[in-house]
Amino acid sequence: MTNFLSNCRRSSIFISFVEIIASEMSDRMLADFLAIEEPVTISMHIRSIDQNKAIKIAKRKLSDVDKMKMEQQKKTSMAGYDPDILPPDIKTFSDEAKALLDDLQSRNERYFLMTFLIMNVADTKKQLENVIFREKGIAQKYNCQLKRLDFQQEDGLFTCASLGNNLIKINRGLTTTATAIFIPFTTQELFQDGESLYYGVNTLSNNMIMCDRKLLKNPNGIFLGTPGSGKSFLAKREITNVYFVTDDDIIICDPEAEYYPLVEELNGQEVYNLRCMVFIGVT
Ligand SMILES: Nc1ncnc2c1ncn2[C@@H]1O[C@H](COP(=O)(O)OP(=O)(O)O)[C@@H](O)[C@H]1O
Ligand SMILES: [Mg+2]
Repeated sequence: MTNFLSNCRRSSIFISFVEIIASEMSDRMLADFLAIEEPVTISMHIRSIDQNKAIKIAKRKLSDVDKMKMEQQKKTSMAGYDPDILPPDIKTFSDEAKALLDDLQSRNERYFLMTFLIMNVADTKKQLENVIFREKGIAQKYNCQLKRLDFQQEDGLFTCASLGNNLIKINRGLTTTATAIFIPFTTQELFQDGESLYYGVNTLSNNMIMCDRKLLKNPNGIFLGTPGSGKSFLAKREITNVYFVTDDDIIICDPEAEYYPLVEELNGQEVYNLRCMVFIGVT
């Protein structure tokens, strides 16, 4: 919300909606939108439809497509062509409507209506246009279209404010599987409180992964990787993190004295104990 308000203070605000044309979506689309460096607010309003009503909608769709099909067949046969020759669009609509009805009736799927809005803010109009141009490219890549919310910018702004109100009446029906492609269903966030340590960034949601290993069922850890991939770097970073965040003792078994500079920086203590091993304790 604070992010939303600070975004609104910028001079140019623009809301667009994503028209989902594809029948099957990829979860990479949202990740690509979120990877844009400029501030972007994505708002998804998802409303579930009563199952009986959903089946009725699917049946109506199917009969509409059948009607279109019959009219087309009448036209083609009157023109003297084979009536089985149908425009590819009608064939696709018909297959999709059949698949939807099948999903709802026999695969325990639910039907959802989704409004997908994107709010962009920028300091200048030019910057705004550039971002929107890039977003249009992303939408197109996933068989969707980014469209301007003409005459509905104010309603769009209220809808993006994550207050739970959807004033935009443009929506797309999706089944459970298609809806589940979008977060928060596909990403599992790990963000523990207390003495949690940083373990990287979630590649899909870009949120930090914060974890306290001591609270897990198995607190042990192991770093695996090819030489030079950054195992030692990760270990040193975690040691430093433990040093600053917790009161735990850090004991390093380090025959090659690779960690010596770090131990020195953190005012650690060396313990020569076994014949060839060096124990370095940092407290
Ligand atoms: N996250 C990172 N950011 C920048 N440099 C890194 C990062 N991880 C590793 N490096 C660099 O890559 C090189 C190899 O890392 P290192 O931890 O020694 O690999 P390993 O122990 O897996 O052989 C080092 O020079 C290190 O500074
Ligand atoms: Mg190493």
